[in-house]
Amino acid sequence: MSDLQQLIDNNARWAEKIKQQDPDFFAKLAKQQVPEYLWIGCSDARVPANEIVGMLPGDLFVHRNVANVVLHTDLNCLSVIQYAVDVLKVKHILVTGHYGCGGVRASMHDAQFGLIDGWLRTIRDLYYEQREHLATFASEEERVDRLCELNVIQQVRNVSHTTIVQNAWHRGQELSIHGCIYGIKDGIWKDLDVTVSSMEQLAPQNRLRPLGRS
Ligand code: CO
Repeated sequence: MSDLQQLIDNNARWAEKIKQQDPDFFAKLAKQQVPEYLWIGCSDARVPANEIVGMLPGDLFVHRNVANVVLHTDLNCLSVIQYAVDVLKVKHILVTGHYGCGGVRASMHDAQFGLIDGWLRTIRDLYYEQREHLATFASEEERVDRLCELNVIQQVRNVSHTTIVQNAWHRGQELSIHGCIYGIKDGIWKDLDVTVSSMEQLAPQNRLRPLGRS
């Protein structure tokens, strides 16, 4: 028996269940995708995007990487954002972190894990910047969880500082960037209330004029 047999059986049951509820579901989806949301989340196996927010295939455009980091030089993440904003015209970008994130935790310690250490470097910098604030929390767990929140807030800023998002706002496109966090211990996904929906919400030094306009 194939190593994948259990997954293949699961898939057959899943596809059948969806078809029972809506016989045309897959045929309709095959024609086009019109998701309203782009999810930027952690690769952690315990944080499955669609399931958490009760979304079906076709509802969420998804990018995941370790510790839900958005870097201005990451062609992969930027290409996902560009396609989602310019072509799919999603209305909401959901930057979703999670409590107890291993990537965030690793950024607070001095052990090496390999290539991933470089990927997480900006979170290590954030930890250093926030060390006095984080020191006010009593336990290691609380410090990790707070840094998970601060990381989401930083990534929301990073998304809103991209020319992709700012050009969408310049042309009047409706687009909001939300910061959210998921609790692995309780399954609850919550809004951190740091939504950015316009240029006016950004600090002046982070605002760029439309391309070619001086
Ligand atoms: Co994580």
